[in-house]
Amino acid sequence: MTPSTGPGHPRFDRQGDLRSDFLVIGSGIAGLRAALALAETGDVVVLTKADPRESNTGYAQGGIAAAVGPDDSPELHASDTLAAGDGLCDPDAVNLLVREGPRYVTELMAWGAAFDRGEDGTPALAREGAHSVRRVLHAHDATGREIARVLWTRVSSNPRIRVVGDAQALALNVHDGRCAGARFMTGDGLGTVVAERTLLATGGAGQVFRETTNPMIATGDGVAMAFHAGARVADLEFVQFHPTVLSVAGAPRFLLSEALRGEGARLVNNLGESFMERYEPAGDLASRDLVSRAMVREAERTASPVYLTLAHLPAAFIRERFPTIAQTCAAAGLDLTADPIPVRPAAHYVMGGVQTDLDGNTSLPGLYAAGEVACTGVHGANRLASNSLLEGLVFGARAALAMRAGGEPAQLPESDVVDDGLERDSGDATVPTAGEVRDLMWRHVGVLRTHAGLETAVTRLRAWTWAIGRHKEETHDPDVRRVENLATVGGLIAQAALRRTESRGAHFRTDFHHRDDLHWMKRVAQRRHDH
Ligand code: FAD
Ligand code: SIN
Repeated sequence: MTPSTGPGHPRFDRQGDLRSDFLVIGSGIAGLRAALALAETGDVVVLTKADPRESNTGYAQGGIAAAVGPDDSPELHASDTLAAGDGLCDPDAVNLLVREGPRYVTELMAWGAAFDRGEDGTPALAREGAHSVRRVLHAHDATGREIARVLWTRVSSNPRIRVVGDAQALALNVHDGRCAGARFMTGDGLGTVVAERTLLATGGAGQVFRETTNPMIATGDGVAMAFHAGARVADLEFVQFHPTVLSVAGAPRFLLSEALRGEGARLVNNLGESFMERYEPAGDLASRDLVSRAMVREAERTASPVYLTLAHLPAAFIRERFPTIAQTCAAAGLDLTADPIPVRPAAHYVMGGVQTDLDGNTSLPGLYAAGEVACTGVHGANRLASNSLLEGLVFGARAALAMRAGGEPAQLPESDVVDDGLERDSGDATVPTAGEVRDLMWRHVGVLRTHAGLETAVTRLRAWTWAIGRHKEETHDPDVRRVENLATVGGLIAQAALRRTESRGAHFRTDFHHRDDLHWMKRVAQRRHDH
């Protein structure tokens, strides 16, 4: 029926549904790591909407953070993560991440991950923004590709895992208040996987914004599906805008890794002047939210683009350490080692997502979430660089252990703000294009936010989701599904951003410049009003 890899044991029942002990949706670092752990006790179906190797994971550049260096410790890694999170991290989640991280990274190396090594044979560690020591393991500038290769090699040869490619999950099946699998669509038609336990590992939602580092698959499907199924989502106002994305007309918005600045690259204005220290004491290696805002302000002040320069660094070293970035710049007509490279911020990572406890349990029984789609609280209001691959690895494995044990639904604190609903009956609203949603989000819900802009976005997105909801019943058009997910997740992001009347981490409002601990040391959680 569908393209699939690996023999697997899952079987079709009389209705033609696929049955399995476990369903995993998504084949990035979180989904693949979870599948390997699940296959130790049961049969696993992995649904993935494109080629199984297509994921944000595969594009990760800078590396994976773990406290393995001689001058490092889990405590130091935790304190950097908490500082970047700007008061909103869950300290228990952070402690798990930094303590369990080194073990899982060591396991990856034992499975064959070829991270770069120093002359003494130990892993070479890179520096990135807001890390107080060198802590980032890397494989040149294509760390994600190497990690995905290692995980995929194991998954594709595991007889208990069946990977179904080009299979887009459309909705979660909920029976008697419990998630019982999902419906999906392939080029051949519709299908269902029936499973006792389902893991959402669908990754991020960068495509909700016009300017993004994320590939086409990152449309926030998991958050949209979970929200529609009645699960609780949280922290969605916190979207990380990566500061340095190649900005050349006609060229892709390609990420220029923070590791470049870790090796000494500097941001300069149109006169070639270094400007970061004027805005932030930590300069070019301040946390991403601070650097992105400083860049926007400098570009406004000078009415010109800003640039990344590496011309003062040894060219041979740069070419050897960052071969992919150098090639991409060359394809855009730029010499990474000599030219000023025009850069701008772009949506990169969503800190919020489907709210979970420390074991991946969501508020919906039978549904688990891990990786970028989840909100474990580990990143708070702003993620520390290179903590995302680590989160996918650690919490992907943890969620799998909970699924094997048959965990309870998460007990999530009721003290949090709970918003409800999204669609509003808006009479004559029409179904938008994906471009309209993405433009609106970039214009009004981007790096600098205002009350008026957020209100415009919320009103329009509510009307659009209502119009799509009516139209959807008549069609299985994949483009309508894509727009529906973009508008749903965009609406949830905009609603949460409007609600949070302060600035914190990656969420910055020009009408509320300051962090307000008195009122906002809490999450904005959202759940459908009819659940
Ligand atoms: P993903 O790797 O995105 O995988 C999601 C999977 O779900 C994909 O297989 C996708 O096809 C599938 N999927 C989505 N929707 C559906 C659906 N409806 N049905 C079926 N399947 C679906 N983080 C770091 O820590 N270090 C870095 O150096 C780094 N560099 C980055 C560079 C770039 C350019 C980008 C975009 C991100 C980077 N990040 C980095 C972030 C990091 O890569 C991601 O957050 C992380 O890989 C997410 O892993 P995941 O398993 O949660 O999701
Ligand atoms: C980068 O290489 O700059 C991306 C790292 C990350 O997103 O953590």
